[in-house]
Amino acid sequence: MSSRFPEIFRRYQATRALSRTLAAPLSDADATVQSMPDASPAKWHLAHTSWFFEAMVLQRFSKDYAPFDPAFGYLFNSYYEALGARHPRPRRGLLTRPTLDSIYAYRDHVDRAVEAFFQRAFCEAAGELIELGCHHESQHQELLLTDILHLFAQNPLRPAYKERASDEAGEATPVRFLAFAGGLAELGAGVENFAYDCERPRHRVFVSPYRLADRLVTNAEWIAFIDAGGYGNPLLWLSEGWAKRLAEGWTAPLYWERREGAWWTMTLSGLRRVDPAAPVAHVSYFEADAFARWCGKRLPTEAEWELAAEPLPMRGNFLETGRSRPAAAEGEGLRQMFGDLWEWTSSPFSPYPRFRPAEGEASEYNAKFMCGQFVLRGGSCVSPKAHIRATYRNFFPPDARWQFSGVRLAEDS
Ligand SMILES: [Fe+2]
Repeated sequence: MSSRFPEIFRRYQATRALSRTLAAPLSDADATVQSMPDASPAKWHLAHTSWFFEAMVLQRFSKDYAPFDPAFGYLFNSYYEALGARHPRPRRGLLTRPTLDSIYAYRDHVDRAVEAFFQRAFCEAAGELIELGCHHESQHQELLLTDILHLFAQNPLRPAYKERASDEAGEATPVRFLAFAGGLAELGAGVENFAYDCERPRHRVFVSPYRLADRLVTNAEWIAFIDAGGYGNPLLWLSEGWAKRLAEGWTAPLYWERREGAWWTMTLSGLRRVDPAAPVAHVSYFEADAFARWCGKRLPTEAEWELAAEPLPMRGNFLETGRSRPAAAEGEGLRQMFGDLWEWTSSPFSPYPRFRPAEGEASEYNAKFMCGQFVLRGGSCVSPKAHIRATYRNFFPPDARWQFSGVRLAEDS
């Protein structure tokens, strides 16, 4: 039996329990509705993460496993072509049945089977897939909250997922740019600990000297960009971004609205005044890029970001703080690198040199998305802390705004 058995078992139980905790404030209706094709209902997240263990582990390694419901493979497969046909993504919100209660029963069924499997048939290959399934579920925990925020923002009542007292910070410290020497450096995950396939292999890169902002761009700075006509000046924008801005009518970050001369924004605690000192959130790559150009700066590359992040302790405003909103920068030095907001980089999500996708069904996890997306780094205020690493490569299309995404500026030195 692997020496990592207890660690993976603990992680499995903690991860599964956290999903239940996060979904606890939601009614069946809250958990069923889908606000747009990119977002999934909470019920679907809860079921799909269970399906992942069922399809990747139980049906492959546990010979006597009886599926909870044979129809669920069709309903809750996301994008795995090798695992069969699936319900179309934009129609996930039409699944009023199965009920939320039956999804919880499905989760219990899978948990009992996985835990029994741990006791009698645990093997290295299955252990690796269970570990992958835990990280996969952590990803979906963040998505569940991200998608609930989008759903609740469509409701004129602007409901709160979780009430929380206001904690405006007032004024941000002036931004400083910290110098990094660059040079020949190593990037990517080693072989010792868990990492997704796209974070490997560790490889050498040459990085020219650069400077990185010591904090994220704030709401106050973003309001200055709006007031200076940043959303109306095509010279600041990439062509594709400008077309999107026109088509979608963007004039401010997603969720911002103007009421009686002030900016407000939708949060997981309901509608709140925009806090000038807090980092700007829910902006697309296109907006981040236009803002950087307006400042005479640029977005960092993912190599620049990772080199700066690697020596830092894994501390930040993650899901565990309970804040579920980005916080103003505090203290000294390079701040907000982990937690608060995912940081857009200028790097396209493409394979590292000598990349090999994971083997088997998990080969579809990342590799097939390496086209037309940009890398984001560092995790957010709704990322479970244990899910984030300095080498972690998140990725979204350049027009995505509903993620907890923000901006850190860089420049050449
Ligand atoms: Fe998934």
